[in-house]
Amino acid sequence: MTTKTKISFPIACLVLTLLISSCSSSTQTTTPEATAPAKGVSSDAQVNAILESSCYGCHSTGGSAPWYAAVSPTYLAANSARSALNFSDWQTYDPQKKAEELKSIEQSVSGGSMPPGDYTALDHSARLTDQQKQTLLTWASQSALPAH
Ligand code: HEC
Repeated sequence: MTTKTKISFPIACLVLTLLISSCSSSTQTTTPEATAPAKGVSSDAQVNAILESSCYGCHSTGGSAPWYAAVSPTYLAANSARSALNFSDWQTYDPQKKAEELKSIEQSVSGGSMPPGDYTALDHSARLTDQQKQTLLTWASQSALPAH
């Protein structure tokens, strides 16, 4: 009887510790935004993060701008932005549509028309640094190559 208690006490402690640590780690995992597509657009997490912070507000289902940026004219056109290019639907695009969009992304990002300036003037978090721009351009040009 006494031996049994001696053995089970440390085990109970261990189980408790495991439970507590798994509980606390699960509270740390952030719930993904409703705007994030089921699968990332790119296999490169860095690219996905840039798209999310700079493009999803207008180009994803359920994407929204912070209140102080929601008045910008291009944001008000976000419905047309989504019908032209919706990253939430990316996985459903066929290879040709993907290739066309990648080319268009490359052109608009390198030309500076996307993300739109009237919007990034208000939402600074959507601005692209030179490095982020480069990362996007490299992704768009490499992924646009025809798949064999
Ligand atoms: C403030 C809203 C907004 C943000 C942020 C934004 N866009 Fe746009 N985007 C638009 C609008 C509006 C259009 C024009 C849609 C149309 O043709 O009517 C557009 C069009 C495009 C097009 C052309 C799509 C097509 O098939 O005609 C591409 C490509 C594009 N955006 C890429 C991006 C990328 C990449 C980002 C992020 C780096 C981005 N956009 C961020 C609003 C936005």
